Amino acid sequence: MAAIFRPSANLAATLSLLGIAALFVAGVGWWWVWPRTDYMRHTRWPVDQPVPFSHEHHVAGLGIDCRFCHTSVEVSSTAGMPPTYTCMTCHSQIWTNAGLLAPVRQSLADNKPIVWNRVTDLPDYVFFNHSIHIAKGVGCSSCHGQVDRMPLTYKAKSLTMQFCLNCHSNPGPNLRPKDQIYNTQWRRTAETPSPATLMAEYHVQRRNASAARLRRGAPLLAPALQPLYRRRHAHLETFGRLASRRARLDGDDNASPQVARIGPRHPSPP
Ligand code: HEC
Ligand code: HEC
Ligand code: HEC
Ligand code: HEC
Repeated sequence: MAAIFRPSANLAATLSLLGIAALFVAGVGWWWVWPRTDYMRHTRWPVDQPVPFSHEHHVAGLGIDCRFCHTSVEVSSTAGMPPTYTCMTCHSQIWTNAGLLAPVRQSLADNKPIVWNRVTDLPDYVFFNHSIHIAKGVGCSSCHGQVDRMPLTYKAKSLTMQFCLNCHSNPGPNLRPKDQIYNTQWRRTAETPSPATLMAEYHVQRRNASAARLRRGAPLLAPALQPLYRRRHAHLETFGRLASRRARLDGDDNASPQVARIGPRHPSPP
């Protein structure tokens, strides 16, 4: 009786197994790795701006405080963008004819705000609030990296949900003394008060403990913890209302250089 498989079938079998393995690897790459790449997360890609504004030059070089330009960061959900007038406090005196600054002068001449392109961009369903973080001793660089070393601004950290939770479940080591919030070069040293001291000073201890307990117990104790969840949710909604103020920054009715504008959310990858 003739053999069912000829010798060449071995080769075909090997090739198809390799093919399946390659498809599997490609599938994992597409499904798991690709969304986590810096490219897809817009991380570490300088964003083009109407004016090539340099934090390196203005912050590290000239020593201007973040709050001079991002005026609402301590009191509001949004940090705020500098209006043309803020640039003009200096640039009506220096570099007055520079080609690079033509869009700034144009904004004043046309009575229209400069529209900065977004660097950080959370999904619409996330409540985020700057003021609570500043009040509780979280510095700008914990989330934005060393902005004062950026000739063009880019997103330094992923800002994924995992990133937020990594800190929320144990904020202590990330807290810093109040006077270091705006220092993007700050590092914990031997003189820095301990995480526990800072947690107590900023009153983050108890809420964080209950949050950690919630996270640990959630899968098993979900029904029993419902009331706690609800309380927490009410809390988040308070911040949600604050977050709605960011509409002010997004809105397009601010057609004057006395206010600042930031571009649309979720542009396509660079
Ligand atoms: C002289 C004004 C000025 C100062 C001072 C300044 N910034 Fe900015 N900042 C800007 C401008 C203009 C933009 C928009 C252009 C850009 O993204 O580079 C911006 C953008 C940013 C962004 C990106 C915002 C986005 O689109 O998501 C971050 C983050 C930021 N600044 C953080 C800081 C921090 C932290 C400091 C202090 C260490 C600081 N800035 C100081 C003017 C300033
Ligand atoms: C806990 C993390 C965190 C800290 C701390 C933080 N930021 Fe942000 N920042 C964000 C996130 C997240 C966004 C994007 C918000 C969005 O998409 O609506 C953002 C957006 C911005 C923007 C763009 C305009 C806006 O408000 O949406 C600026 C400017 C900015 N931050 C400056 C600062 C400065 C200056 C500090 C320090 C005083 C600071 N941030 C501290 C997370 C942080
Ligand atoms: C406190 C004063 C001051 C403010 C406010 C200020 N600048 Fe400047 N800027 C300077 C100085 C000084 C230089 C020139 C530095 C040099 O070349 O030595 C400069 C240079 C520049 C340059 C040339 C490129 C570079 O980085 O060397 C650009 C573009 C620029 N500024 C944009 C802006 C914009 C946009 C704003 C508003 C968000 C702004 N500046 C606000 C002081 C200021
Ligand atoms: C480096 C630490 C750190 C990071 C990163 C961080 N947070 Fe926070 N966050 C805190 C601290 C500390 C508090 C104050 C908690 C308290 O008072 O108990 C806080 C409070 C909040 C609150 C107020 C509600 C509450 O639970 O008390 C919200 C909302 C929030 N963060 C959202 C975010 C989001 C969204 C991100 C990611 C984009 C983020 N945070 C990243 C440290 C951080």
